[in-house]
Amino acid sequence: RAARCRVVLARPRAPVPGSKWQELRELSERAPERFWDSVAKERLLWNKPFEQVADCDMRQGKIRWFLGGQLNVSANCLDVHVARAPERVALLWERDEPGSEVKVTYRELLETTCRLANTLKRHGVRKGDRVAIYMPVSPIAVAAMLACARIGAVHTVVFAGFSAEALAGRIEDAQCKAVITCNQGVRGGRTINLKTTVDTAVKSCPSVRNVFVAHRTECKVPMGPLDIFLEEEMAKESTSCPPEPMESEDMLFMLYTSGSTGKPKGIVHTQAGYLLYAALTHQYVFDYHPGDVFGCVADIGWVTGHSYVVYGPLCNGATTVLFESTPVYPNPGRYWETVQRLGINQFYGAPTAIRLLLKYDENWVKKYDRSSLKTLGSVGEPINREAWEWFYHVVGDGKCPLVDTWWQTETGGVCIAPQPAEDGAEILPAMAMRPFFGIQPTLMDEKGKEIRGNDVSGALCISQTWPGMARTIYGDHQRFVDAYFKPYPGHYFTGDGAYRSKEGYYQITGRMDDVINISGHRLGTAEIEDALDEHPDVPETAVVGIPHDVKGEVPFAFVVLKEVGSSSQSQVIEELKSLVAAKIAKYAVPDHFLVVKRLPKTRSGKIMRRILRKVAMGQSSDLGDISTLDDPSVVTEVIQACDHYRSLESKKN
Ligand code: WTA
Repeated sequence: RAARCRVVLARPRAPVPGSKWQELRELSERAPERFWDSVAKERLLWNKPFEQVADCDMRQGKIRWFLGGQLNVSANCLDVHVARAPERVALLWERDEPGSEVKVTYRELLETTCRLANTLKRHGVRKGDRVAIYMPVSPIAVAAMLACARIGAVHTVVFAGFSAEALAGRIEDAQCKAVITCNQGVRGGRTINLKTTVDTAVKSCPSVRNVFVAHRTECKVPMGPLDIFLEEEMAKESTSCPPEPMESEDMLFMLYTSGSTGKPKGIVHTQAGYLLYAALTHQYVFDYHPGDVFGCVADIGWVTGHSYVVYGPLCNGATTVLFESTPVYPNPGRYWETVQRLGINQFYGAPTAIRLLLKYDENWVKKYDRSSLKTLGSVGEPINREAWEWFYHVVGDGKCPLVDTWWQTETGGVCIAPQPAEDGAEILPAMAMRPFFGIQPTLMDEKGKEIRGNDVSGALCISQTWPGMARTIYGDHQRFVDAYFKPYPGHYFTGDGAYRSKEGYYQITGRMDDVINISGHRLGTAEIEDALDEHPDVPETAVVGIPHDVKGEVPFAFVVLKEVGSSSQSQVIEELKSLVAAKIAKYAVPDHFLVVKRLPKTRSGKIMRRILRKVAMGQSSDLGDISTLDDPSVVTEVIQACDHYRSLESKKN
């Protein structure tokens, strides 16, 4: 529930009637199409002006913006700024090794992008081809994304923590023609053998013709017949490459994300609408001003990295920070030492990192000069009150607006967030608060009816289209329609629940489906179950998410085993852990495994995860309605097993 306490901003500004912000807000509410029409013309460089602002029908999942227009995203992110200020710093690469940051100007980034684009072209990558990028946060990774955009290829960045099998699944689904990777990644003082993972992955991916290998470390890696030294090839290419004119609705990138069922889905974003939305939200949600150093510490493997490390800031001509390290390397002062050294003005991070850092002495923050900070932002999961207060008061000295930004891979950019750019804004702790320009949130009840009024909770939908929203799921438009537009016909369903306060502000209450959020990483419990079920001794499993004080949520696995002696149970569990790490990623490995004889099911055979979640959370006295269960005695069994497990756990600690 919303906290009542009001945070008074350091410099509350008096409302200025007729200000730019107010003007935009009014227009976006009164005439959304005219609003988008005017910002699209004002902010983007078009090769050919668009003829129609929008052609959308949410019932069919038809979303199209700026039809007839042509532009190039990389030209908007690079050439436009090179023409005006070539020596302005585009990227500040905060390498893993503290104090070794690298500056890349807009001119340099354009040249690198063109060399990379020409290299791709020379090796047969054409407009419309898909390219997987499996790289650490680095200028060459950003250039790889922009090079794809320049020639009209579609990138799919895969977070470099995913396993070979997860990478292969994505490459297969997208039918990627090329993969761009690094010999190794470096994070928290350790090296990660990325190329080895790619080697394993591409063995099962016949679509891949080439693997381009950049070098982050000195380490030599064995090169196979598909492999090409990226830097060597780039050196041979020209520093100019004409930007391919793209239709507004051509694909820009796809990004795989988890749903409540099935395999990860390739969320598709297109050119103009996505770029415009990323840029506009970047400016207004974070109160970005020209000359600011924008520090979003997300990995480029997630949508936050796409919209607020790369596309939004670069479209606005900002200096954007690429953070390669971790919040605790070499010590828990890393973020704030980086803020001081790079002079970061906007700092955007995840609650999980804040919860980790607030456990350490405040001096890790206080000893660094944070006076450059103007706005703080949080994203990816609900931020709890304690983390919010610490971030606001300790990190921001109570002087910087802290914006809790709600959005999703599917929404392209921030949809609900306080807007410090707004004149006279007030910000309530741990609340996403206000819809962005052109966003129309709606709360729905169980019967699919809109809930009006304030001080109410329901399923969060968005009832009017906006340019940044996803266009489809790659190769499966029906799944797109079913997942997002079927539950509440005519509305986009987010999968989250929300509360609308008395004042009309929004607070996100969490997922309503079987998606969990581990350290801000979104994961379907079904994906973990699928991995576990592959074990020959495991006929059935159920995974639920339970709260964790740092990670937000962690997976808890209920496992039914075939007849195996108890001595080998622990061995099976070890094997299960390896399976999940190999099939998905290390972060997906459940923190808890509980072996049970049976799982509670309804008469129609559906596993009742709601009950399992309560049991796992130690709330078995409050199971709610269990009358639909086929055999209620299963619940007693599971509770007993869980109590036993808990008592063993507490002895261990
Ligand atoms: C959750 C990340 C509460 C939510 C940008 C959403 C949040 C999912 C917030 C999307 C927030 C994101 N408060 N929950 N400020 N931001 N979420 O696709 O459940 O990785 O549906 O996009 O994260 O995760 P995704």
